Amino acid sequence: CGIIGFTGRKPAKDILIDGLERLEYRGYDSAGIALLNDDDTLTIRKKAGRVSELRELCKDGDYSSTCGIGHTRWATHGGVTDANAHPHRCGNVALIHNGIIENYSDIIREYGLADKLVSETDSEVVAALLDTLYDGDPIAAIRKAVKIIAGSFALCIMFADRPGIIYAVRNVSPMVAAHSEEGSIIASDLTAIISFSKDYFVVPEYHILTMTQEGIRVEDLKGNEVKPQMLEITWDITAAQKGGFPHFMLKEIYEQPESLRNTITPRIVNSLPDFTEDGIDDEVFKNCENITVIACGTAMHAGIVGKAMIESELRIPVNVEIASEFRYKEPLINEKTLVIVTSQSGETIDTLEAMRLAKRCGSKVISIVNVKGSTIARESDYVLYTHAGPEIAVASTKAYSVQMAAMYLIGCRLGLVKGIYSEEQAKEFISKLLGTIPVIEETLLQADEVKTVANYIKMAPDAFFIGRGMDYTLSLEGALKLKEISYVHAEAYAAGELKHGTIALITENVPVIALATQPAVYEKMVSNIREVKARGAYVILISMGDEVTDTQICDKHIRIPKQDSLFTVFAAAVILQLIAYYTSDAKGLDVDKPRNLAKSVTVE
Ligand code: G6P
Repeated sequence: CGIIGFTGRKPAKDILIDGLERLEYRGYDSAGIALLNDDDTLTIRKKAGRVSELRELCKDGDYSSTCGIGHTRWATHGGVTDANAHPHRCGNVALIHNGIIENYSDIIREYGLADKLVSETDSEVVAALLDTLYDGDPIAAIRKAVKIIAGSFALCIMFADRPGIIYAVRNVSPMVAAHSEEGSIIASDLTAIISFSKDYFVVPEYHILTMTQEGIRVEDLKGNEVKPQMLEITWDITAAQKGGFPHFMLKEIYEQPESLRNTITPRIVNSLPDFTEDGIDDEVFKNCENITVIACGTAMHAGIVGKAMIESELRIPVNVEIASEFRYKEPLINEKTLVIVTSQSGETIDTLEAMRLAKRCGSKVISIVNVKGSTIARESDYVLYTHAGPEIAVASTKAYSVQMAAMYLIGCRLGLVKGIYSEEQAKEFISKLLGTIPVIEETLLQADEVKTVANYIKMAPDAFFIGRGMDYTLSLEGALKLKEISYVHAEAYAAGELKHGTIALITENVPVIALATQPAVYEKMVSNIREVKARGAYVILISMGDEVTDTQICDKHIRIPKQDSLFTVFAAAVILQLIAYYTSDAKGLDVDKPRNLAKSVTVE
């Protein structure tokens, strides 16, 4: 969920709604604002649906209030309804919440709040609790409440009889705040406050903020004033435009050559990988005996590709961990483990918490992050920023490619530092990595060809992606992409494993997307393709160069240009992204904002 609050010298409504638009990547199930009026009344506007619908709802009427809070929701507790949309109001209190209140049912019982609640959310329980605890002293009520609630929370709170004041407090869920001549602003992340001020601070956990147009007071739970550490935003956000493309996703697919160039070239000095500018010390590579990659979703899939590459090239063990699993384990890592945390947004809460755990275990953490100044980037020991530019479509494409490229760069530097690669070998590696850029440009020319495949897949309830080695690691992402935006159920399978059960699902006309770009296992792949073809599958073959001589083995054939097999994932990824994109578009779906998803999941 995304949260924003503003109190200052200007009407708050548009500031809040503009901010919510920037935060919409955190969820778009519902949106709402609450405004505190001078006559001690609260105006609340909220509804299920996108921020654009909220803007429409707030088109007419008196919105002169200069103090308000806003929220865009990704549903956790309670369905997608107007009532469950934030802000929640109970008596004197209006609030917005990001996070999960774990003990909400105990609180309802202990404080007899059931009659006060109109929604199904855990968040409203906090509003009801605060209203019960409030006896004219907001800080005292908040202090008591945060001692009662358990879980993760970022809360912005207004009391009807405290005009012009927003209170805020958090645990785990991130919030940043800033003050300028226009007033005080608080939000889930910097994207919503950057146009307002370049100087900001991270809201310390379990501290209470009192925000007015004059300034922001920060105090600990005992009431001692604390001076937060001020930070500066040193980058710009250029407003992302579709630039003539029908969807952000397609635009972002086409931006991949540029994103890769921007990510790779600044890290090449004398044709060798070099992280001096990133401040990454070679000591971390020297000390590393094994690697653990921690991430979620597509970022985790980039880690799986990186694992295959690093293990085969460097013979260094790499473990890829799903962040939400890792964080509840007793992890098998130590000071000799290099932890690589991968996240486009840098805000995914499971990844963030897993990273904190890894640091507590004594491991050094390099994060691979796309969004500058995000929480994960700030908290990791080292950050290797990917330079994909803003990724707006929920389904990740260019961020995935640059994450893979970052893994390749790390692998190459590691090989060099450990003496596994000679300078010459490292130079060759880098030249091949750079070589993927024109290869992708050439691959993109086949978009129309891929479109015809999508017209077939769109009719299928299920699809299978098969491959071996590097191709298998990539097929995981191909299946995820198709599922998330076209709603076609898809599974990725190691091609040789299919016969151990899943082949039972291969019947007449089931689409099988077969990746066969790896010469070492090419003949084996052909056998697996024949196995599914014999059962009636509709085979879409993706191969490299002119390897395939028997065109009878497939129904549709897409070729990527010839290159070293270690690097085919970049071009093949583009084909898989286009398959998913065109299938979703052919089905008339909302490609950029698929149902139930959020660009960045900031709840556990
Ligand atoms: C969400 C998005 C995915 C993304 C994942 C991790 O689930 O829908 O596309 O891969 O979060 O996000 P991150 O920002 O950490 O890469």
